[in-house]
Amino acid sequence: MLALEISARFIAGMKDQRVRRALATNFSDLLRYQNMLCRYDSMALKSLDVFSIHGFPVGYIQVESNFLGIRNGGGNPVGSGGWVNITEKYTKAKRYCTEPFEVMFDGKKKTTHYITGEWIGEKHPQCPDAPAREIDIRCASSTEAELAPQSLDAVFTDPPYFGMVQYGELMQFCYVWLRKLMGGEFPGLELNTTRHADELTGNATAERDIEHFAEGLAAVYKRMAAALKPGAPLVFTYHHNQQTAYLAAALGILDAGLTCSASLPCPAEMGGSIHIHGTGSSIVDTVFVCRDRGTAPRAMLFENAEQLAKLLTRELAELCAAGMKPTAGDIRCIAFGHITRMAIWGLRAEWDATRPTAAKLESIRLAMDALATVDEVRAALEGAKPVTATGVRTQNKENREQANAVAF
Ligand SMILES: C[S@@+](CC[C@H](N)C(=O)[O-])C[C@H]1O[C@@H](n2cnc3c(N)ncnc32)[C@H](O)[C@@H]1O
Repeated sequence: MLALEISARFIAGMKDQRVRRALATNFSDLLRYQNMLCRYDSMALKSLDVFSIHGFPVGYIQVESNFLGIRNGGGNPVGSGGWVNITEKYTKAKRYCTEPFEVMFDGKKKTTHYITGEWIGEKHPQCPDAPAREIDIRCASSTEAELAPQSLDAVFTDPPYFGMVQYGELMQFCYVWLRKLMGGEFPGLELNTTRHADELTGNATAERDIEHFAEGLAAVYKRMAAALKPGAPLVFTYHHNQQTAYLAAALGILDAGLTCSASLPCPAEMGGSIHIHGTGSSIVDTVFVCRDRGTAPRAMLFENAEQLAKLLTRELAELCAAGMKPTAGDIRCIAFGHITRMAIWGLRAEWDATRPTAAKLESIRLAMDALATVDEVRAALEGAKPVTATGVRTQNKENREQANAVAF
């Protein structure tokens, strides 16, 4: 700990604010990996930082990691949490900004495909003539974001999954060090703590229930809807084991005056993540695409569990063709995504956003259950005709050919 204290004083004493910020960010990362909270992975025979998984586990076998990190014979870091590992991660992230790529699978072989002409940042170091982009990063609650009306082409967001991860509580761990190093006057570090009543999560201890979460999502989506150009999409990714969490998402969309034009199953979470491990949870998110006007394919509409099962059979075959093995948890989440979309579709015309939150949530629940319950979908899936990947492609082609756009 003496080494940490000396490093902290060294960074705090540096004059150049940018250098101080870079070092402090690395340092606070390093700190959250240090102490006796490191875990020893007795299978892989290496120490791991406390946040190597999305959670705050206290391992059975604790170790103190080498502060600087160690490298193996090939020069790669062993385990995680040391300085070498962190600087390596930052370098990779920076390289990705100038050379972004997608990873694809050719059978079991992983291949990297660079996206030529694309980069992340204001300027491309190798293309000085390319037009500069404007980036505006703010550390503030989205419930209070001020955006000009009809100014946005699209909104992409990844909201909290109700009570699944307590971001504020987790981040307190490194925030106190960051603030100590950078000073409380540094933008974004003004508050004493990362715990905040406005945090959009469910948290029984802090008395943040589903109504708080739903109202918060609605406040954000309303602001975004007002700032979007007509017909432009608000896209967010979401999954949860319980129907209640989907009621909040639906309420947010409906209160914002939007409808859901698509709900796309998309592999997301790592199966080993601590907050889903052993919970039977899904590793497939639903990507909700919402707009105030537009069209949706007729083939995606359904009225009951049997019709939804047909749609799901095609999607599950597509996920299998892409190398996934959808579990019961995945099927439940994909089904919830579609049922939420269709409940919104049905409720939108008569939606009265001024009603009490509890009443609105209940009406969404009733609309979802009237369409299909997960048990009904499961039963219908058992009776559904299996579809092969080739069948999916043929069917998709047929679907496309059906001139099937329904306006909303
Ligand atoms: C699912 S995570 C998004 C993670 C992000 N996509 C990433 O890869 O780092 C949800 C995020 O929403 C943030 N959040 C919670 N309440 C918020 C609010 N009122 N305004 C803005 N962000 C909030 C949480 O702190 C958390 O970082």
